[in-house]
Amino acid sequence: MAKIAVLGYGTVGSGVVEVIEHNGGLIAKRTGEALEVKYILDIRDFPGDPYEDRIVHDIGVILEDPQVTVICETMGGEEPAFSFSKKALQAGKSVCTSNKELVANHGAELIALAEENRCNYLFEASVGGGIPIIRPLNTSLTAEHVTEITGILNGTTNYILTKMKTQQAPFEKLLKRAQEKGYAERNPEADIEGYDACRKIAILGSLMTGRTVDYRKIYTEGISRITPEDFAYADAMGCTIKLLATVKEEEDGFLAAVAPSLLDNENPLSGVNNVFNAISVRGNMQGETMYYGKGAGKLATASAVVADVIDCVKHPGKHVICLWDSEELVLKDFSAVQSRFFVRTAIADEETVSELFGDVKKLHLPGRPEEFGFVTAEMSQAEFAQKASQLPGFLSRIRIKD
Ligand code: HSE
Repeated sequence: MAKIAVLGYGTVGSGVVEVIEHNGGLIAKRTGEALEVKYILDIRDFPGDPYEDRIVHDIGVILEDPQVTVICETMGGEEPAFSFSKKALQAGKSVCTSNKELVANHGAELIALAEENRCNYLFEASVGGGIPIIRPLNTSLTAEHVTEITGILNGTTNYILTKMKTQQAPFEKLLKRAQEKGYAERNPEADIEGYDACRKIAILGSLMTGRTVDYRKIYTEGISRITPEDFAYADAMGCTIKLLATVKEEEDGFLAAVAPSLLDNENPLSGVNNVFNAISVRGNMQGETMYYGKGAGKLATASAVVADVIDCVKHPGKHVICLWDSEELVLKDFSAVQSRFFVRTAIADEETVSELFGDVKKLHLPGRPEEFGFVTAEMSQAEFAQKASQLPGFLSRIRIKD
């Protein structure tokens, strides 16, 4: 019987317990031994909970118990998750986590610590919820030179954008629903403003390049300015709007960004709806592979944590190589990155539009006589910002995914 401990009995932590209980027989066969949740660390008590007797408040109890070989860190946030994870790894206990903030901030350091102590720091659940993406990058795609990863990496915003498109429902109501479903972060600004997706693409970019992508240096824009009217324009152009996160190797450097993007309906990512996420990986030999599934939610995320636990239990004393060095990856200056833009502007500025952007095709929506939209030629972010600042009737802009 492999004894494990769960740190944090919230949405994902209780999901881990549920997955082990529900699929225990199957897991035992696949692992070669059963998993037992020996301890659950939380500051709260859970009177009446079937696992009430496993609750402990002192991490020392877990760290000092030699029977516990694997720890699930499902607390989230930086501290005390960071200190607890370090202590666990130093004690030779593997740590499996869903904590994207911690992985993005300290991935290289924690992986190195795991290697020193012949155990593992695994984080499949930190990106894309239940979608297998970390393991494919570390195993199935190791013969590839991966040159681009682009994905929908946040379930909450994808849920909101999907409902905004199909039900024209107001933003606040949709966010509340996403929170009720257990998708959103404690502070939903992390979802809405793109910070969560930013951390996830930093993790993927670090695995892609083997160097640390500092998430603070990734250009990040959320969905708070997207409206049902934007979807009406997108629809008229045979497109939809998705919050895309991307990391890409180009001839002159590496680009990383998170931003709402207009996506052609032919693009496979355009059909990824509700809480689902999808990640497209481009390799130099295979071309494109895609990974799809539930990007958030208790059981989807917990299942990915438990799969990591099973991996650790199956390979005791063995550190699985994961190339992620602490050396920082230098990213291209985003202001020089080229895009086409979809722009909405007041009708009064038709002439200025032509002066600034040339001969663009104007798109008028029925019932909106006061404005029109158009698509620019490719230009740098800086050039666009400069032109947009000279357009008095400028209303909004969305980048176009090419
Ligand atoms: N808030 C996150 C999301 C949870 O909506 O995707 C999963 O990381």
